[in-house]
Order: sequence, then C-alpha cells, then structure tokens
Amino acid sequence: MADPNASAPARHEHVLILDFGSQVTQLIARRLRETGVYCEIWPFSHAPEARIRAFAPRGIILSGGPASVNEGSSPKAPDHVFTLGLPVLGICYGQQTMAAQLGGVVEGSDHREFGRAFVDVTGECAITQGVWAPGAREQVWMSHGDRITALPPGFRSVASSEGAPFSVIADDERRFYGTMFHPEVVHTPHGAALLKNFTHGICGCSGDWTMGAYRAETIAKIRAQVGTGRVVCGLSGGVDSSVAAVLIHEAIGDQLTCIYVDHGLMRANESEQVVKTFRDRFNIHLVHRDASDLFLGQLSGVTDPEIKRKTIGRLFIEVFEEEQNKIGGADFLAQGTLYPDVIESVSATGGPSVTIKSHHNVGGLPEGMRMQLIEPLRELFKDEVRVLGRELGIPEEIVGRHPFPGPGLAIRIPGDVTREKADLLRRVDTVFLEEIRNAGLYDAIWQAFAVLLPVRTVGVMGDGRTYDQACALRAVTSTDGMTADVYPFDMAFLSRVSNRIVNEVRGINRVTYDITSKPPGTIEWE
Ligand code: XMP
Repeated sequence: MADPNASAPARHEHVLILDFGSQVTQLIARRLRETGVYCEIWPFSHAPEARIRAFAPRGIILSGGPASVNEGSSPKAPDHVFTLGLPVLGICYGQQTMAAQLGGVVEGSDHREFGRAFVDVTGECAITQGVWAPGAREQVWMSHGDRITALPPGFRSVASSEGAPFSVIADDERRFYGTMFHPEVVHTPHGAALLKNFTHGICGCSGDWTMGAYRAETIAKIRAQVGTGRVVCGLSGGVDSSVAAVLIHEAIGDQLTCIYVDHGLMRANESEQVVKTFRDRFNIHLVHRDASDLFLGQLSGVTDPEIKRKTIGRLFIEVFEEEQNKIGGADFLAQGTLYPDVIESVSATGGPSVTIKSHHNVGGLPEGMRMQLIEPLRELFKDEVRVLGRELGIPEEIVGRHPFPGPGLAIRIPGDVTREKADLLRRVDTVFLEEIRNAGLYDAIWQAFAVLLPVRTVGVMGDGRTYDQACALRAVTSTDGMTADVYPFDMAFLSRVSNRIVNEVRGINRVTYDITSKPPGTIEWE
C-alpha cells in the first residue's frame, strides 16, 4: 500500500498548505497548481519540523478554519513554521493565529463579515504589488467573526475594511503576510494574482509543475515500483480509470492487463468505444467480459435500490476475480484514486482528529486478493486528470465525459431492470445527449441523463390512443457531485427534446424534466 504521507520528488518547487479545517482549503491548492506550483495540504497537527524540512517547501500557507483563536483549545500553527526562515501567508483563521502567536491581539467582533466585502487599499507590499494600487477599493470574499485589533511587532497594515482594519498585513522583512479574506475563491476577483505574488514573487517559484513533467516522473515511478511484475486494472470507461490505464501502459506496456466488466448497463455504444479506444488505438491488452446475461439475470425481479447496488457490486468483484485468475493473477492492482480522496482532512471543529478517506474504484479489494496498489493519479485533482488525459492523447469523448455511476443504468430504471428497459432507456438517453451536444451545452453541465419511469400513461399520436411509458430527464450543474443545481434549460430546448423522444423512441409517450436540486434530491434516482 502506498504511503499516504509520501510526497512528490523534492526536485519540484513545493509550497505547503497547513489546513485548519476551512471548507475551501482545497481551492488554495487548485489556485496554486493553476500557476504551475506543486503543493500539498497537510493537517496543521501533522506537520513536525522534520517532515516539513524533508518536503522542502519554498513557503507555507496557513488556511482558514472554523475555530476562534480566543477559544482555549484553538488550533495553532507549530512554532517552527515561524522559525524555519520560510515565507508564510496566513489566510483568515491562518492570519489570526499567526497574529496571535507572534504577539498581536485578536478579538471577537460585533461586525461579522460573511460573503462579498470591499477593502480599501492603504499601502503596498509584495502581496499586493502590481495587483492592487494604493487608494483603490477592491472586492474580496470574507468569512470571519474575529478580527485582529493589534498587530504583532514587525507588521503593518496594507488594506482595511469596516469589519477588519487589518485586512492585509505584511512583515516584508520576515516575509510573513496575512489576509483577512479568502483570496482562493473566485469571488475575490484578484485573489489568484495575490496568491501568485506570494508563490512566485515572495517564495521565488517559477511554476515548474506541468503535466508533461508529471507524466514523465510518474512513468519513472511506476517502472520503479512494478519492476517486472504484472498489473491488472479495472477499466470502466470513465475518465479516471482510462487515464490511469493509458499512463501505466506507457510505463510498462504489456505487463498491464485491463479488465472491462461489461454489465450490460452502459450507455449506447460505450462498450464498443472502450474496446476500440483501448485495445485498437492504444494497443492495451484488454479483457472485455460481456457479463450482461449474468448481471441482468441476477437483477431480475430486484426492485430495491440498495439490493440492486449490492448485487451489482458483488457480481462485479466476482467477475473481475474470475477474469484476473484466467490471466494467471497479477502483483499489482491499479486504481484511479484522486487527490481529493487522499487529503487528510481536519475535522470541522479544527480538532486533531484526522480522517483519510479510502476509495476503491473496483468496489473494494476482495479478501484474499493480495495485490499491492498502484495509484498514479493520487496527487491530481479531477481537472488535472483531464489535462493529463489530453496530454496522453485520450479522445475528448472519454476525457471530457460526464461522470457515470458504477451500477450504470440500473439505478436509472426504478423498479425491475430488464434488457428491454435498458435498451429503451439507452435510446432516450442518446436523443437527450445528442440535443445537449448540438446546443453546445455538454461542457456546461455536470451530468445529464434520462430515467425510465415505471409508469404508463395515456397519450394520443396521430388519430390513435397510446398507452406507453413515461421518462424523466435530469441535468445538473455541480462542482463535486456533493451538491447540485438543476440546469435551467429554456423551454424551446426541452420541447425539442420531448418531441424527438416521443417521435423517435417507440414505447415512450411522455417526457418530464426533474427540477429537484441536491439536496434534497440526489443526482441519481436510486
Ligand atoms: P448521488 O446520486 O448520490 O450521486 O447524488 C452523486 C454522484 O455520484 C455518482 N454515483 C456513483 N458513482 N458508483 C459511482 O462510481 C456509484 O455507485 C454511484 N452512485 C452515484 C452519481 O452519478 C453522481 O455523479
């Protein structure tokens, strides 16, 4: 198993983000990586001096967090953060704890600032240089109750707002800076430029984190890890497993075998596309197991959503194991685990409890499968995986594809699942997605799909009565699938889709649009 504390090779320029539990800490990492700076997020409580020295960051960022520095047990930055001689940027709570720890005063305030606010730029420092001019009034995004009321020795104020007289503070000599607002969120329009001033201007990073470099380094790491061993990878046709497979194949060629378990519940033409892309185009050794009879047979009569999911998960592992035994086993199992799955997150209270989320793309490692894991994407965010996929020449239809759930169409067919129903749903889904693509909306939508409803309704077509099935369309916007908003199609678009479906898909005579956000709904229907 890979070491969760393992870091990228030291030859990259690194910046360390110490997390105090803010909801938006990951955005700091996103903004830094967009400017070519490799960074990692560690809990504030897991940053001993030796670990930081080994990571060799060029600077340290202290994130925001929900705590108040005036609470007795409030989290603190380790003292060595301020004695290592490195530049430090404190954001919101990070600024407050830095100020308090270095001799300033932080107090609760009646004037809480949440959301959009404006700051008056009163001076200049290396953070604001070239971005904010003295005298300007600038928009920022605040989220704080406490505020600094007396600066620590060595600091001066560079910007202020009504609720926070010390909105930006600077000690140019020690290269310590703080912002009361969140520069990492898009609602601080110049926030990314301020962060770049810290990483590039103050820390001296040149921006050497590129996908080209990541590709070369990761390939070298995979070769070193695998040696002459054999690797098996469960391919789902989704972005993560596809990119992982192509990257590993580039590293070790035929030592990799991909297993594509086709449960018969994929979207139209998806299985053909997977085989064509990976076997024919990338020359990857691919086992395509058509297990649709097995899956659909076992799903027959199953209507409970949880039993459906469990049945599919169990069969998936059974078939995967069977196929991997047929090829004589393997030493390593490849997974498309991403960075958000491995970030050690601080609990909401800012306390020392640490959770490392585990994530298994093939539904959990079956007992007795004694393989080591290869997770070549565990340092990347989803959009970085897409960039890497494009760099590797993976077609846009796969790299830019909407997420698709492991249980496939089964959870979009409430009630009993049959091959006929899956076929009908595929045809509806195809029309809907075709129209979305024609309208140029595909990339603006997180996920769009159709649901086959277990209801028949009366309709009239030509001169005749129909008594056919109803379907629902679902399209949402989201950033991570945790919450979602309904996509606001215009009525002309929805009418066009509805007409096409009823005219072209025999068996469907009514179309509805699901206008439930998440929460309270979920994205999938089951
Ligand atoms: P829900 O329906 O929970 O879905 O709002 C959130 C996101 O997760 C996807 N999803 C799954 N993905 N295996 C997966 O790989 C699953 O069992 C599964 N269930 C839901 C869903 O499509 C959406 O993107």
